[in-house]
Order: sequence, then structure tokens, then C-alpha cells
Amino acid sequence: MRTRRLVVAMPKGGSGKTATATALAWGFHRMGRRVLLIDLDPQGNATAAMGVAPGREYRSLEFLLHPDRAFAPATVMEGLDVVPASTWRSGLDLEVQKVNQLTGPVTLREAIDRVQAAYEYVLVDCAPSLGPVTYNALAAGPILAPVETTRLAVSVVPELDRVVATLRRSVAPAAKVIGYLPTRCVARLSESREALGALEAMEGSRVLRTRVPFATAIARSLAEATSPFSRRYRHSKGPHAYLHVVEEVGALLEEDHG
Ligand SMILES: Nc1ncnc2c1ncn2[C@@H]1O[C@H](COP(=O)(O)OP(=O)(O)OP(=O)(O)O)[C@@H](O)[C@H]1O
Ligand SMILES: [Mg+2]
Repeated sequence: MRTRRLVVAMPKGGSGKTATATALAWGFHRMGRRVLLIDLDPQGNATAAMGVAPGREYRSLEFLLHPDRAFAPATVMEGLDVVPASTWRSGLDLEVQKVNQLTGPVTLREAIDRVQAAYEYVLVDCAPSLGPVTYNALAAGPILAPVETTRLAVSVVPELDRVVATLRRSVAPAAKVIGYLPTRCVARLSESREALGALEAMEGSRVLRTRVPFATAIARSLAEATSPFSRRYRHSKGPHAYLHVVEEVGALLEEDHG
């Protein structure tokens, strides 16, 4: 089976990127797949949610600063690895920017090339920014954009689309968003319904069929570093929705031929 890559990105903070990237990691793993999750966000939320200690030195960002070094993933359990976040260090952004000017945003793609043989899925969780690190990620594989169903969050979507279009015209002709995932939906709130309508009007069939509801089990599973699919959350509609997300995204990645 060839390695599928997926970059979970959305410049708006609190969109559900980490909830989605980690749910997909647990979800593909429970299907018996070998999974690598790369945490590119210096906040280290995905790293913590997988129960891994954050990197004291460069970890996930090492690919930019030391392109000759291979990733050193931590193992959560057999078949489930995490490249921990590089915790924030002053001046890091500037350094990364300098490196990017020299190499262009293709280095993450190459860093993944070097480790991908060991995995069936390589997932990337991005920070809420459109800085040089995120540019690199957007050029590294198909993109899934979780969008919180508020009008403010939906209004940020065109910004992501613009950056992806720019990458496509320049260094990454294959860059594309394969799906927009509505998250934290509250059907009884008109704000949530209107935001969903606006997203569907904008992105049409690229909006996933699954709507992830607002569900405390999701927040709890992240905080407790447990799989949202563990037995204790079996009655929650949040993890249930994420099972559908795993299915839908799995199918989209099968259909995607670059
Ligand atoms: N479906 C959900 N229902 C309830 N709470 C959620 C849901 N998804 C995520 N959360 C919670 O909302 C907050 C933001 O979610 P998450 O960290 O996944 O977003 P993010 O896009 O990764 O944020 P950031 O941009 O800061 O990286 C977290 O506290 C998380 O536990
Ligand atoms: Mg996050």
C-alpha cells in the first residue's frame, strides 16, 4: 500500500485541526495501519494529546534547520508514531524564514519522503498561521481544512485557498485542499447553520458530508491523551462523527492520485 499523506491546516486558531489530526491518527491506527503524526505547531497540542513529551530541542522543525537529519519519531504504541513539536524558541521564525528563502517550501515534502516507507499514513498538524512553516506543510501533501462553523472562521477560508493557489502556480503544482470539515457544529444555533451554509456555498462538494458536533468528549480525549475511540466515549456523538471522518478522509485519499 502506498503511503497516504494528509496535511491538516487552517490559519484560524481553534478550528479543530489538532482534534481532527489526532482523531485521524487514532482512527487509521485502529484499522491496523502504520501511522506517523508530525506536530508542526510549537504549541505542541498534538504532541501532548498523543501523550508524548514535547521536544526540548528542534524536533518537527528540524527538517528546515538541519535538512540532512532524519525525523526521530516517538512511539506512542506499536504502529503509531509522533514527531513531537519543536517548542518555541526566540528567533526560530526568522531562522526558518531565512532557510525558506534559500530552499523554497519543499523541504518538508522531502523530509517525509525519507521516512514514509515505514508508514501507511503520514499526517501533519499545522499551527494556526500562514508563516513559512505552514507554507512548507501546504506543499507537502493533500490538505484537509477543519472549519469551525462560525462566520468568522468561514471568512478565513478564502485566505487559505489563496495561499494554496499561489503554491500551485509556483513550487507545488499538486497543492490542493481535498476537503473542508465543518467542526464544532451546533445545529440549534442559527450562527452555526448560517456559517455551514456559507461554507457550502463557497466550497460546494469539497465540504465533507460529516459535520463534527460540539462535544465535550472530544476536548476531554485531547486533554487526557486518550483515543476518542476508546470505550469510555462510546456514547458520545463527537467521537462517533470522527469515525465517519476517518472513513470519508480515507476514501478521499484513495481517490487522490496526486
Ligand atoms: N468537536 C469539538 N467539540 C468540543 N470541543 C472541541 C471540539 N474540537 C475541538 N475542541 C476543543 O476546542 C479547542 C480547539 O480545538 P483544537 O485544538 O483541535 O483546534 P486547533 O485548530 O488545533 O487550534 P490551534 O489553532 O490553536 O492549533 C480545544 O480545546 C479542543 O479540545
Ligand atoms: Mg492545534
